[in-house]
Amino acid sequence: MNTFNTIHDTKQFIASAKKAGKSIGFVPTMGALHEGHLTLMRRAKQENDLLAVSVFVNPIQFNNPEDLEKYPRDLNKDKALLESVGCDILFAPSTAEMYPEEKVTEHFNFGKLEAVMEGAFRPGHFNGVAVVVKRLFNIITPDKAYFGEKDFQQLAIIKRLVEMEKMPLTIVPCAIVREPDGLAMSSRNERLKPEERAIAPLIHQILQEAVELKNKKSPPEITRWVADRFKSNPSFSLEYFQIADDTFLQPVKQWEKNKGAVGFVAAFLGDVRLIDNIRFY
Ligand code: PAF
Repeated sequence: MNTFNTIHDTKQFIASAKKAGKSIGFVPTMGALHEGHLTLMRRAKQENDLLAVSVFVNPIQFNNPEDLEKYPRDLNKDKALLESVGCDILFAPSTAEMYPEEKVTEHFNFGKLEAVMEGAFRPGHFNGVAVVVKRLFNIITPDKAYFGEKDFQQLAIIKRLVEMEKMPLTIVPCAIVREPDGLAMSSRNERLKPEERAIAPLIHQILQEAVELKNKKSPPEITRWVADRFKSNPSFSLEYFQIADDTFLQPVKQWEKNKGAVGFVAAFLGDVRLIDNIRFY
């Protein structure tokens, strides 16, 4: 694995790989790698000549300083996992390397797409994601970039970013990877206390039960039902549950069978914020 900390060295290596006709599959990460990341990486490795991965905990996408401080970091462990999936290029820059300017001023307008759910509850989050992903795409110049559907809204934002910036790459969405008990894999799961980890699969269970009700209840009725299910479990604090269309992520009030609808949830378990989603149609 070729490991780089600077943009200059990374670009130089990639330029010669491209000259040799190699295609690049890219998986951007914030480290604390788990099976979910590794699944994206195996696919990227299979579909491209070279697998490039970035590990960078992006400070400007955290709206909560405590969340940034507590974000798990272990580059040596990550490197061993990257070797195990045959990663060819690791880009692990410092914050100063990614953000040499005093203050990041670049601003994107994603309109309605960022006005709901994660965008509404985490002000500035998607702008921070877009700034770093645009910079990473410009450095790595991948042919394909792979993103998990657990962060469904992030995926929609990134597709829009690529469209707006006319970037010549394909975004490849990848299905959520779950633990055997149903919990969606996330770096944040590491921060759950054992008793919290034991009840965390309830999030996915509630979503599955909600889907089973789709022929009997309307989207607003299901939304109330989900809120009640979480209320009866005081360990959880539900931030939102929303059923939205799968393209513009706007609230769905009634089922339309030809229109994709996805249920999105964000809930705190102790001080750990978890998100998940499930398709209704
Ligand atoms: O999904 C993530 O891990 C991050 O939001 C990303 C895409 C690596 C940008 O920092």
